[in-house]
Amino acid sequence: MPSGSEAGSNEGWLLDEVASAGRENLDAGHVARYDAKEDADAAQEVLLLGRLGLTSESVVVDLGAGTGQFALAVAPACARVVAVDVSSVMLTALRTKVEQAGAHNVEVVQAGFLTYGHHGSPADFVYSRYALHHLPDFWKGVALTRLRDTLRPGGVLRLSDAVYNFEPADAAERIEAWCATGNPPGAGGWGRWELEEHVRDEHSTYTWLLEAMLQRTGFTIEDAEYSDDGIFAKYVLRSTSAQ
Ligand SMILES: C[S@@+](CC[C@H](N)C(=O)[O-])C[C@H]1O[C@@H](n2cnc3c(N)ncnc32)[C@H](O)[C@@H]1O
Repeated sequence: MPSGSEAGSNEGWLLDEVASAGRENLDAGHVARYDAKEDADAAQEVLLLGRLGLTSESVVVDLGAGTGQFALAVAPACARVVAVDVSSVMLTALRTKVEQAGAHNVEVVQAGFLTYGHHGSPADFVYSRYALHHLPDFWKGVALTRLRDTLRPGGVLRLSDAVYNFEPADAAERIEAWCATGNPPGAGGWGRWELEEHVRDEHSTYTWLLEAMLQRTGFTIEDAEYSDDGIFAKYVLRSTSAQ
């Protein structure tokens, strides 16, 4: 079990989060190319959190932090950032960037949605982008409950992910249209084969299932933004009191 677990000795039944972390996220070549391939638009995300109440006193947890684009961008604007990820390859890249930036208020923790144990003041913000889809839906529910418990009551979860905003009857047409936007091999960016791999091997769900889970686990959906192609969703979620 990864460090950071607070679950004790349980658990032949606990999902292996490293095994389900995504082939590419454990691949050093992919991680080395990641920042050139994927722009998390982190400065805009920090501005959004500022409008939602981020201050120099705030505690922020980044779950599925990857190479830390957001964690490093938010660090100068808050008191403490905990950047959490299951992938040791991602965390090696992240630790290097933290050291180079001299970001002394960023803590790097190897753990997952299902094992991260938060210590200290409750988080004012949890940020998670393109990571929750690595968990099957049953485990998303468990993970969301744990994120809610990481936040102070009234705290904000900023959640972005590949979430399918269409009906099952439209799935083949929508998924094929998305995969057709992927590049051919060797062309850089996201390849068609990587988008196919996402759909086939990972666990993106429907917006209408995820939103039911969010409400069930104690979040109020304050904002939901869907991409026109029906593939991506961004949420601003407010933690209500413990359930
Ligand atoms: C596509 S990357 C996104 C990284 C970053 N959030 C961004 O937006 O650039 C997905 C990240 O989620 C991590 N991840 C996958 N499963 C996870 C889990 N169960 N718990 C925590 N992190 C996980 C992967 O290791 C990877 O670093």
